[in-house]
Amino acid sequence: MKIRGSVYFIMKKYLIQTYGCQMNEHDSEKISWILEGMGYQLTDDREECDLIIFNTCAVRKSAEDRVYGQLGELKDLKRRNPNLILAVCGCMMQREEAREVVLKKFRQVDIIFGTNNIHKMPQLITRHLETGQTIVDILEENREIEEDINANRKYSYKAFVNIMYGCNNFCTYCIVPYARGRERSREPENIIKEIKNLAENGCKEVTLLGQNVNSYGKTLDRDYRFSDLLRDVNQIDGIERIRFMTSHPKDLSGDLINAYTTLNKLCKHLHLPIQSGSDKILKMMNRKYNIDDYLKIIDKIRNAVPDIVITTDIIVGFPGETEEDFNETLDLVKRVKYDAAYTFLYSIREGTKAAQMKGQVPDDVKHERFQKLLDTLYPIGLEQNEKLLGKVVEVLVEEVSKNDEEMLNGRTDSGKLVHFKGNKDIIGTFVNVKIDNAKTFTLEGTIC
Ligand code: 5AD
Ligand code: SF4
Repeated sequence: MKIRGSVYFIMKKYLIQTYGCQMNEHDSEKISWILEGMGYQLTDDREECDLIIFNTCAVRKSAEDRVYGQLGELKDLKRRNPNLILAVCGCMMQREEAREVVLKKFRQVDIIFGTNNIHKMPQLITRHLETGQTIVDILEENREIEEDINANRKYSYKAFVNIMYGCNNFCTYCIVPYARGRERSREPENIIKEIKNLAENGCKEVTLLGQNVNSYGKTLDRDYRFSDLLRDVNQIDGIERIRFMTSHPKDLSGDLINAYTTLNKLCKHLHLPIQSGSDKILKMMNRKYNIDDYLKIIDKIRNAVPDIVITTDIIVGFPGETEEDFNETLDLVKRVKYDAAYTFLYSIREGTKAAQMKGQVPDDVKHERFQKLLDTLYPIGLEQNEKLLGKVVEVLVEEVSKNDEEMLNGRTDSGKLVHFKGNKDIIGTFVNVKIDNAKTFTLEGTIC
C-alpha cells in the first residue's frame, strides 16, 4: 500500500501533541514520517499550523480530561484560522464514549482516527479537504501489521522499535486491550531488518516495545521467543544497548533471566510492574501471579545480576483495597527496594471489569495512600542512587539540559538519568562520568 507521496500539500505546517506511553510517542514518530512524506513541515507554533494532531491516551481519566481541556482551547485558534485541520487519534479515540464527547462538544475537530489505521491518514486528510466533512475512521481490530510505515525518530542515536502490538491480558482496571486490540507479534526478520537499518544510520540504543514483551512470539507460526529476539538483536553491529518495555511477571521466564547474563548489550534494568502488594487485590486485578511468585523472580534476577536496577508500576486505591492491602504494598516496596516506580491513582475506565466492582475507594483516601506510597518510595530511590556515589558509570549522552545550557543529560546502562557539564558535540556518544551527587530521581557527575 502506498502510504506516503501525496506531495500536493506543499510546505504546510503541522504539530503533534502526544499523550501517554512510549508506544504513543513512537506512533507519533510514524505519523510525523507520513506527514513529512506529504510535504508537511514540523513547527512548534500553533499559530502557524495547518494541521494539529492530538495523539491521545486512555489509560487514565486525567489524561482524557487534559485532551478535552486542550481541544477547548483550540476553539479560538480554529475560529481565527478556519483552514486549520484538527485531528484527534490514539487510544482515547478507540473508545466510543470519548469519540461521542469529541463529536458533540468539540465541533472544531475535523478528523478522528484510531490506533489501528494511522496508515490511512493521507486518505483521511484528503477526504476532509475534498468534502469539508468531519471524518471519523476507526478500525476496531487490525490483525494485519502495517510494515510499510517508517518513523521520523526524535533522536538519531536511540530508537523505539515495536516488536508486538495489542494485549490479551485484560487486567481488570485496564483499557489497553480494548483500545489496542489482541496481541500480535511482528515477524523477527522485519524487526531485525529495521534495527540493522537504524544501526547503519548511527543508532546505538534500541528500546523494544510491547505491552507484554515476555509473550513475544506466541502468534508466530514457529517457536521463536523474546529471548531469541534479544539474542539476534545482540548480534547487530553498531547497536550497543538493548532495552525493552514492558514485562509481565506472569510470563517472565528463566531464559530471559539467562539473557541478562549472556547478552553483553542487554541493559541491566528490569521494569516489572507489580501493581499491588496484596494477593487479594492482584487476584481482583486478574494479574495471574501472587506476591510470592513475584518475589521469587526478583530473587532469581538479583542472584543472576546483582547490580540490576528494578523499577515498577503501582496502582493505589483499586476497588476493595483496604488499609491492610495498602500496607502490604508498602511492605513490598520496602522488601524489593525499587530504584523508582511509576505510581498511579486508580482511575475508573468504563468498559473494564473493575469499573463495575463494589468498594470503589474514596478520592481523599486514594490521595492519602498515594502520598504515603511516595514517602516510602523516595528515600529508597535515593538510597539506591547513593550506592553509585564515587563510582564511574558509562553514560550515553542524550541532550542539553533544559534548565542549563552548559549541562548535558545522559543515561546509564541501567536507565538512570545523569546530569554533567559538557559540550553538546558529544551528544550521541558514550562517556565515562564519575558520580559526585545522588538525588532521588537523578545523579550528578563529572566527565572523566
Ligand atoms: N488506573 C490507574 N492506573 C492504571 N494503569 C493502567 N490502567 C490504569 C487505571 N485504570 C497503570 C498500570 C499500568 C500503567 C501503564 O498504567 O500501572 O502498568
Ligand atoms: Fe493493561 Fe495488563 Fe495489558 Fe498491561 S498487561 S496493557 S496493564 S491489560
